[in-house]
Amino acid sequence: MATRVEQIAPFQVMAILARAKKLALAGEDVIHLEIGEPDFVAVDAVAEAGVLAIQQGKTGYTSATGLPELKQAISEYYHSRYHASVSPERIIVTPGASGALLLMASLMVNAGEEVIMPDPCYPCNRHFLIQAGAKAKLVETKAEDGFEMDLSALSEHWQDNTSGLWLASPSNPTGAVLSKQYVSEAWQKVSELGGHLLVDEIYQGLVYDGEDFSALSISDDIFVINSFSKYFAMTGWRLGWLVVPEWAIDGATKLAQNVFIAAPSVSQYAAVRAFSPDVLAECELRRQTLNARRLVLLEQLNAIGLPVVAPAHGAFYVYVDVSSVTQDAMAWCLALLEKEKVALTPGADFGVKDAHKYVRFAYTCDEARLKEALARIARFIALSS
Ligand SMILES: Cc1ncc(COP(=O)(O)O)c(C=O)c1O
Repeated sequence: MATRVEQIAPFQVMAILARAKKLALAGEDVIHLEIGEPDFVAVDAVAEAGVLAIQQGKTGYTSATGLPELKQAISEYYHSRYHASVSPERIIVTPGASGALLLMASLMVNAGEEVIMPDPCYPCNRHFLIQAGAKAKLVETKAEDGFEMDLSALSEHWQDNTSGLWLASPSNPTGAVLSKQYVSEAWQKVSELGGHLLVDEIYQGLVYDGEDFSALSISDDIFVINSFSKYFAMTGWRLGWLVVPEWAIDGATKLAQNVFIAAPSVSQYAAVRAFSPDVLAECELRRQTLNARRLVLLEQLNAIGLPVVAPAHGAFYVYVDVSSVTQDAMAWCLALLEKEKVALTPGADFGVKDAHKYVRFAYTCDEARLKEALARIARFIALSS
């Protein structure tokens, strides 16, 4: 096996998932707050468009960078909702944001180079870089600063072999939302340093406080990733996209042709329907449901002595410091699952510094279940102290 495989860490949450499955099989009532996907499915009209595509035999390869009508729909969505002018040619449709991240690592990062990203962040980012023979340079962030990387120190982290900066907003695992001013400043600094900036906007639309904007409204030279997985609740349809600057279209197209041939065709035909007003209205209702859960969760965490310091204004996550009750978040998660049948994700999946102090809650179950989970956690803390 290639040595790079050894550098890729398995997800710690897999141990939790495996145990949770066993407990559920044994008839236990497990509450899942560890899973990073919505508990909704694709809106009916979108699923029906997918079924129709199958019935009409629209199941062959599409063009490598995506169906023209889907790219057109995404372009119009950027224009109408985010006031960003993005030509369809700059949109590369991919198998999930994961496909977009893989393209991005191959497109912009040479072997031996580094990409700066905040600690904590989405773990696969660093693994995609390892595949490209490169690596991530994690820069510590603090809850008191809203988990934002200090941009004034960016040049100190920047080395001769630094290729760029990868950010995400809203963030997984912290739910933090970056301001437009912050992303503009990041872009200015990265440009001065001669690198590239990628903003992962996969949780776009799931913003409850603060501005829901796209980095594409700041500059045509910023790379942006997005997906149908989260806002449109289509995780298993495996569909996302990468927006590249004009000068990178040919390179990205070549890579997409070779690596994927095309994203799934049925999913693409279905996704064209996702931007219709009725579907967007349903997505907005879901956003409101998520926000109501978020407020319940924040309030209840506070009540049980686990207050969330950094604003968690987006996505469907809160990242909680549990160092007042344990020095080992992974062991704590395992014990919580065993005793109270609540599954959470330990911080070690997302970062290095202070990861042992944190757990991620995903509010991907209804309010009643969330309240029940919090009551169980309170009991667990009371009994273990
Ligand atoms: C920040 C972030 N980026 C990318 C992905 C990959 O998503 P997908 O490939 O389902 O679009 C995820 C999945 O959880 C994520 O949280």
